[in-house]
Amino acid sequence: MEKILDIITAKMQQAFADAGYDASFGRVTVSNRPDLCEYQCNGALSAAKTYKCAPIQIAKAVVEKLNAEDYSLVEAVMPGFINLKLSDAFLRTYLEEMRIAPDFGVAKIGEGKTIVVDYGGANVAKPLHIGHLRPAIIGEALKRLHKFLGYNTIGDIHLGDWGLQMGLIIAELHERQPDLPYFDPDFTGEYPAESPFTLSELEEIYPTASAKKKDPEFAEKAHTATFELQQGRRGYRAIWDHIMGVSLPDLHRIYDLLDVHYEKWLGESDADPYIPAMVEDLKNRGLAVQSEGAWVVPVAEEKDKKEVPPMILVKSDGSAIYATTDLATMVQRMQDWNPDKMLYVTDKRQNLHFEQVFRAARKSGIVHEATELEHVGHGTMNGKDGKPFKTRDGGVLRLEQLIADMTDFVRSKVVENKIVDESEVEVTTAKIALAALKYGDLSNQPTKDYNFDLERFAAFEGNTGPYILYTIVRIKSILSRYGAWEHLPIQNPANSEAKDLMLAITKFGPSLEAALKAEAPNLVCAYIYELAGCVNKFYHETPILKEENEELKAGHIALIGLAKNILETCIDILGFSAPEKM
Ligand code: ARG
Repeated sequence: MEKILDIITAKMQQAFADAGYDASFGRVTVSNRPDLCEYQCNGALSAAKTYKCAPIQIAKAVVEKLNAEDYSLVEAVMPGFINLKLSDAFLRTYLEEMRIAPDFGVAKIGEGKTIVVDYGGANVAKPLHIGHLRPAIIGEALKRLHKFLGYNTIGDIHLGDWGLQMGLIIAELHERQPDLPYFDPDFTGEYPAESPFTLSELEEIYPTASAKKKDPEFAEKAHTATFELQQGRRGYRAIWDHIMGVSLPDLHRIYDLLDVHYEKWLGESDADPYIPAMVEDLKNRGLAVQSEGAWVVPVAEEKDKKEVPPMILVKSDGSAIYATTDLATMVQRMQDWNPDKMLYVTDKRQNLHFEQVFRAARKSGIVHEATELEHVGHGTMNGKDGKPFKTRDGGVLRLEQLIADMTDFVRSKVVENKIVDESEVEVTTAKIALAALKYGDLSNQPTKDYNFDLERFAAFEGNTGPYILYTIVRIKSILSRYGAWEHLPIQNPANSEAKDLMLAITKFGPSLEAALKAEAPNLVCAYIYELAGCVNKFYHETPILKEENEELKAGHIALIGLAKNILETCIDILGFSAPEKM
C-alpha cells in the first residue's frame, strides 16, 4: 500500500499544478504542531520566491484545488502554510485496506534482494557473557525487520572457532594429558569418539591457558598448535571436533533462551578453505605487500583524517588472523549467496577492523559495488551505576546468569501478584523476562551505551517491554470477552482518541522503513510505545464492552483488534512475544 504521506503529497502536488504552480512545491510533512493539524505543506512559502507573489495567495489558490472530501480541515493560514486534517472517511478507508491486506499492506521494499546478517559472534570453548547480548538481540531484530520488509535473509553466527584460542586449548591439553593419542604424530588409528573434556572442564581449560599467554614458551606452543591445526594436523583436527561437539549444544541452548535463531552456523573455520587462493590472488595482483615479514593490504585513502593502518593478511609466522577469515568469509558469501547486502553487528570497538576489511574487499573486488556493506557498531551495556558490568568478585557476568537474574526477578512478581495459575508461571515469566531484557536494550540507539537496570526494564509501567506486553494482553482480554471479531470492518473514528489511534496505526509501514534505513530497532520501539499509548488512552476514554450501540461497539473492537495485530507483529520483529495473561 502507498504511504499516507505519499498519497496526500501526490494530491497536493496535483493541486499546485492545477493552480498553475510547479508540482514539486507540494511536499507534505507530518505536522510539527499536532495541536493545529495532522499534516502540513509549506510549499507556498518557497513557491512565493519563484513566482514573486504573497505566499498566502498561492496557499489559498492551492487549497481551492484540493478535494475537500479528503480532509476534515484544509486551510491556508498566514503567512502561507497549508494545514490539513484527514477526513474520517479517508482514514477509515485507509485503515480498512490495511486491515485486510497481507502484512497490513506494508511495501515489500526488499523483494528479490538477499541480505546476510552476521551477528552474535560467539566463540566456541568460551561461555557466552554479557558482551554477547547486544549483538545477538540487535542482529536478530534487524534480521527479522529485513525479512518482514521482503528481504531474503541469511543470519550467520560467524563462530570464533579458528584462531589462537583453539591453539591455546590444544597446548594446555597437551600439558595436562600428553599421552592422549591426539598428540602422537605416529598414531594412525581412529581417535576416541568421546571427548577428553566436559563442557565445564573446557570452560576452565580455556581461561587457564589464556592466562598463560605471557609465558613465552607456552605462547610459542599455542601458536604452533594454531598453525598446525590450520594446516590440517589430524590429531588437532580431532581435538577441534571435540571442542565443537562440546561447545555447540550449549550455545544453541542459550541462543534458544533468547529466541535468537541462525540460518547458518558457519564459523571462521569454514572460511579457511578459501584463504590460500585468496591470499595467492592478492599477492599476484600486488594488492598484498610484504611488511616486516607479514603480508598486508594497504587500505589508507587520501581522504582519511585519521590513519587507517593496513589490513594484516598473513602474519609473519604464516598464520591467518581475524581479518583474513573475515575477508575469506566474504569470498564464500559472494560465491554461495551473492547477497545485495552484508550487515555486521558487533561491538563498535571493532569499527576499525571492519573499515579495513570493507576497504580490502572493495579494493580487491571480492565484494563488488552492487553489494552494500554495513557495520552496525553497538555501544556497551553498563551496570546500573554506569560502570562496566562486573560480578561481585570482579569477573565477567555470564549471559546465562543475566537471563536467570531477570527471570528470577520477573518470576517473583508473577507469583506475588498471582498473575497466572501455577502451571503457567514459567511460560509467562519467560515471556515477560525476555521482553524486559530485549526491549530494555533495543529501545536504545544501537550505537549508544546504556545502563542495565533490572527493576526498571521489568516494570509494567513506563517505556518498557512488559508495558507493551501488558497493553497487548489487555486488548486480547477485551477481544476474547467480545467474541469473534476478526471479520469486523473498521469504522469512522468515534472520538478524538480513536482518531489519534488510527493515525498512529497508519505510521506502521513508515516506521519500519525508517528503522530499516537507519538500522535502528529503537525506532520500532519508539513506534510501538506511541501506539500502545494511543491504545491505552482510547481504552481509558471509551467504554468499549459497555457500549450499548452494537454497531459502535463493533467499530471499537475492530480498531483495537487491528492495533493488537500490529503491536504483535512489531514485537515479533523485535524478537519477543506476549503471554496470554499478565
Ligand atoms: N567472535 C568475534 C568476537 O568475539 C565476533 C565476530 C563478529 N563477526 C565477524 N564477522 N567478525 O569478537
